[in-house]
Amino acid sequence: MRIKVINGPNLNLLGIREPDIYGKVTYKDLVEQIKKYGEDHNIDIEVLQSNHEGDLVDMIQECLYNTDGIVINPGAYTHTSIALLDALKAVNIPAIEVHISEVDKRENFRQISYIRKACTETISGHGINGYMEAIEHLNDHINKL
Ligand code: DQA
Repeated sequence: MRIKVINGPNLNLLGIREPDIYGKVTYKDLVEQIKKYGEDHNIDIEVLQSNHEGDLVDMIQECLYNTDGIVINPGAYTHTSIALLDALKAVNIPAIEVHISEVDKRENFRQISYIRKACTETISGHGINGYMEAIEHLNDHINKL
């Protein structure tokens, strides 16, 4: 099982950025937790991050032929990017959308998610545990295919 975890803008500042909303765990700690989860469950996981929309499109495209599932937190591009939706549709790899905060209970402009249409599930408001849940769900989902 090969899973890629793709993170969008400002997620590299986890632990520093708005800790009341996103928590105090740093991005480095998040990456370590995800990797440990992969080792413990025998899942090959790569964790990526970019602040740039085009780089995120490239990361999704690069999943073609070498990735079984995608966990994606596109940050603010969730609410704006048709390009990310199109990239997920183009590669047609099972994907789960993750948000650390409970986006549905936040500002109106966060109520739209373009990528949701290309995802089997959305996990929102479970903090960084949401990433591990998403990997677990994706693993189960892919094993059933
Ligand atoms: C986020 C929610 C987005 O609205 C926001 O722009 C982010 C992080 C989350 O993980 O809760 O950057 O995706």
